[in-house]
Amino acid sequence: MRLDRFLSNLPRFSRKDVRLVLIAGRVQVDGLPVKDPLHEVREFSQVRIDDEVLQLGKPARYFMLHKPQGCVSATVDPQHPTVLDLLDEPDKDDLHIAGRLDFNTSGLTLITNDGQWSRRLTQPTTKLAKVYYVETEDEIGAHYIEKFTEGFYFAFENLTTQPAELTILGSHRARLSIVEGRYHQVKRMFGHFDNKVTRLHRESMGPLMLDSALEPGQYRALSADEIALV
Ligand code: URA
Repeated sequence: MRLDRFLSNLPRFSRKDVRLVLIAGRVQVDGLPVKDPLHEVREFSQVRIDDEVLQLGKPARYFMLHKPQGCVSATVDPQHPTVLDLLDEPDKDDLHIAGRLDFNTSGLTLITNDGQWSRRLTQPTTKLAKVYYVETEDEIGAHYIEKFTEGFYFAFENLTTQPAELTILGSHRARLSIVEGRYHQVKRMFGHFDNKVTRLHRESMGPLMLDSALEPGQYRALSADEIALV
């Protein structure tokens, strides 16, 4: 919400008061004086006037989890363990998953309560690469590479996938970089060649790589530097 709107929503300030307190430099957001009425106030922002706190700002939380196979990328599931079950954190209802993985896909899963941050990671328009290690039932042909670059038509969504980069690592192994996260995207891409994906593991999302110190099922908080990369 804009700072001027945030302030004028408080019963004590008229619109004129808002203009005056802003011009006087009496308002601080996250410890810094802000005069711009359009400055964005988030649920995480601390807002003060002089020495008085108007909004405390809730802590923004960011975690990196090594998702194991056999666990659901959902907040609740009646049958199977979920990725949130693996987190020993308070207020888990407030958290969401930035880019789900299938039940049997392993690898980097980012979990946060910051919707703007997770959208930057997952929106196709931001074109952040998601890199997967893939193993397949049948041989991966050199001709696959061109098709991945060209794109696959997905009839259900009526779209053609954005150019993807396939690096063949062995007869049945590849690394794939895609910028979207359509439903079962990688499996459907290989499905075009009738080639079943037998192992799928997400190595990175944009600038964030799965920490090699994390065993499947383990997680850690992101550092301030990692959060700022996105
Ligand atoms: N593509 C898939 O098919 N499955 C995943 O879990 C992720 C990407």
